[in-house]
Amino acid sequence: MPLPSDPLGELAAIEGSVSEAEIRHLHRLAAQVKDGCIVEIGCFRGRSTAALAMGSLAGAGVPVYCIDPQEEFVGIYGGKFGPEDRGKFFEVMLRLRLYPVIRLVNLSSEWLSEAWPIPVRLLWIDGDHRHEGVRRDIDCWLPKLHHDATIVFDDALDPGIGPYHVIEELVAAGGLTRAAVVGKTATLIKGGGCGA
Ligand SMILES: C[S@@+](CC[C@H](N)C(=O)[O-])C[C@H]1O[C@@H](n2cnc3c(N)ncnc32)[C@H](O)[C@@H]1O
Repeated sequence: MPLPSDPLGELAAIEGSVSEAEIRHLHRLAAQVKDGCIVEIGCFRGRSTAALAMGSLAGAGVPVYCIDPQEEFVGIYGGKFGPEDRGKFFEVMLRLRLYPVIRLVNLSSEWLSEAWPIPVRLLWIDGDHRHEGVRRDIDCWLPKLHHDATIVFDDALDPGIGPYHVIEELVAAGGLTRAAVVGKTATLIKGGGCGA
């Protein structure tokens, strides 16, 4: 049970599927990021975003780029998403005063990566969980990672969907190491990870 004075306790009120343990994990990783930026793929109404932003503000204050079209979309588990999420996202970021580090980009992830100018230290992937969706996100963003970086995948333990298989492919290809499993997330590191 979170303490009333625990700022992360407020995040339970935001709609979303990341658990308290997952929120704390994202917050801890974001607080370790010293430079570059954090990229989130799939922000929905801002629950994981808020964890990343609060972590960043507790650390070096690096920007958190939140990439999500926030247009009509049906997730692999049947969840429905759409423009209403954008309004809720804005409300949350204003209420929690997280906008100094948040950069919302309403585009599909692959439209941005080619010319991306800032080394990505922490990449959180919680967008389209179909195999082709996760593979597309990884193929676009892997070349943009800092040599010390961390990738966290949501819904990574279900062999029926994409993240599980893309993680297997990445580990088999070499260069990334399994670092942690927290709740339904899996964390991989490149080099020394985002805190190195
Ligand atoms: C499970 S939700 C994300 C939940 C969020 N991380 C949270 O903590 O509540 C998945 C999100 O992925 C977004 N999405 C789907 N396809 C995408 C794409 N190609 N690029 C970026 N985001 C995408 C959807 O619009 C939806 O908001």
